[in-house]
Amino acid sequence: MGTSQKAACVIGWPIKHSRSPLIHKYWMRQHGIDADYRREAVEPEKLGDFIAHLSSNGYVGANVTLPHKEAVLQLADPDSRALSVGAANTLFFRSGRLCATNTDVEGFVANLDVEASGWDSELETAVVLGAGGGARAVIYGLIERKVERIVLVNRTIEKAAKLASVFGDRVQPTAWSDLPRAMRSARLLVNTTSLGMTGQPPLEIDLAPLASDAAVSDIVYSPLETPLLAAAKARGLKTADGLGMLLYQAVRGFSLWFGVKPEVTAELRALVERDLVN
Ligand code: ATR
Repeated sequence: MGTSQKAACVIGWPIKHSRSPLIHKYWMRQHGIDADYRREAVEPEKLGDFIAHLSSNGYVGANVTLPHKEAVLQLADPDSRALSVGAANTLFFRSGRLCATNTDVEGFVANLDVEASGWDSELETAVVLGAGGGARAVIYGLIERKVERIVLVNRTIEKAAKLASVFGDRVQPTAWSDLPRAMRSARLLVNTTSLGMTGQPPLEIDLAPLASDAAVSDIVYSPLETPLLAAAKARGLKTADGLGMLLYQAVRGFSLWFGVKPEVTAELRALVERDLVN
């Protein structure tokens, strides 16, 4: 690197499509911070070595994405949230120690509060579709917000049962065929599956059983408006999209690295939207 300029990076394999550089460089410009943000393609076997040299390579911190979010827990000091979610997406230094945290949880909830403002966090039942890493962060966020019951619907019911067991009785593994019934009592539906993502089959569900004051959220952000969100909007439901979650999850990393809490502005959102459609 050879300069004393501060830098952060996003570590993944592959890493080409990460929008994190766009987000963090926007905030650096906004706050007059002379720093860089790079994409680092690091294959799994080299992750330990890369992390060990993070500081000596000039990095004040990093984002971590697929497939490293779980492995990184062994390579840094995870906080309780990273441990609870079982994955970390943000690395930062405190007193010379490399710490790992997870900001997906707050990204999901903060975006829901903004985009689907008025969603009823006192609600009794939420339906979560999918049982992968995304679902785990979403469920954790919903439990923090005191949602009483989470119906966890997944194609592979064993995976839903395994994830539900991490959280106890509040999370109920449920078969896809029971989705219409589960939706009748739900005030929030969240898609965490890859269905609806560009290149994947659409998520085809009939939203009719949902109450008219329910909210629908999708963690998929490519395309910006998934068929699920389009259907929810057509029914007049509140919606929150995956791009919002991506933007809000980035806030704490930037604060930890540069000591300034950045804002998710309409201008930033438009910038990333333009990049996603090009
Ligand atoms: P992530 O960690 O990003 O959440 P993941 O672990 O690959 O991703 O999980 C993807 C989720 O999408 C899973 O819940 C998966 O269901 P299975 O557990 O049954 O595999 C779900 N998914 C992917 N393709 C699907 C499809 N065609 N139909 C239904 N669910 C699907």
